[in-house]
Amino acid sequence: MGRLQDKIAFITGGGGGIGGATALLFAEEGAGLAVVDRDGTAADATAAAIRERVPSARVLPLGADLSDEAEARRTMAATDAHFGGLDILVNVAGIRVYGALADAEPDTWDSILAVNLMATVHCCKAAVPLLRARNGGSIVNVSSVFGVTGRAGMGQYDVTKAAVVSLSRTLAIEEVGHGIRVNTVCPGPTITPFHIARAEARGVSEEELRRTGARHTLMKRWGEPREVACTILFLASDESSFVTGTTLVVDGGASAASA
Ligand SMILES: NC(=O)c1ccc[n+]([C@@H]2O[C@H](COP(=O)([O-])OP(=O)(O)OC[C@H]3O[C@@H](n4cnc5c(N)ncnc54)[C@H](O)[C@@H]3O)[C@@H](O)[C@H]2O)c1
Repeated sequence: MGRLQDKIAFITGGGGGIGGATALLFAEEGAGLAVVDRDGTAADATAAAIRERVPSARVLPLGADLSDEAEARRTMAATDAHFGGLDILVNVAGIRVYGALADAEPDTWDSILAVNLMATVHCCKAAVPLLRARNGGSIVNVSSVFGVTGRAGMGQYDVTKAAVVSLSRTLAIEEVGHGIRVNTVCPGPTITPFHIARAEARGVSEEELRRTGARHTLMKRWGEPREVACTILFLASDESSFVTGTTLVVDGGASAASA
């Protein structure tokens, strides 16, 4: 407890599986936080769940489509006004597109680039002046193991996730003089309500999904959102004070097994 005491964090995609778990863990560790999501109701639900578990938590739920730069600036300013500064940005918001690259259409390229890459870009740009004003801070961008390895069938998504790795690396180089660390987390299969709902829509139960859906990992299981959140916490906290510009894969050994 207290690993983020007196820190202020802005977490995108905080209404979703990994973002929600990260928000709860950060609150448990003492951070004040903005929980930002395009689905404002989901952001409110995360905030309510946090307040139930951590009655002393300081949580600001905000609904915003962060692919719009003005919305990223507005929510960052609201966070600054509410808490009086910013120490940590975690970009978790993301969407998926399925299909082969040969069939990919311009509209799905536009939509996935707008969220997975540009929302991250907009939030980083809006956060940097606040982090510089504190003489430093931490940005953690969530990519995917498929940002650093390949597969067939989700090329548009994988391209955006590779771009996030590059974005983090360059920003780390450019901002090191301001004390800002920037790192990337690349999750492997992580079981969230999104995956469970998608499987159930195909007639596959959660139990069957858990049993069969992550056999390719060394550990033969899915990761839990909390396990990804713990890695994000390490990179967000001062415990990783000598870590910047790096990429941390959290995939139960899946990429090691296929290497
Ligand atoms: N779960 C996995 O197996 C896995 C694996 C690798 C990478 N990831 C990445 O981790 C992140 C979180 O994954 P998850 O499984 O928790 O997903 P999720 O779908 O549960 O959560 C994503 C959240 O992002 C929000 N969002 C989408 N577009 C937005 C926008 N324009 N503005 C603001 N919020 C927006 C959604 O409303 C949702 O709440 C994503 O970036 C995903 O690509 C997940």
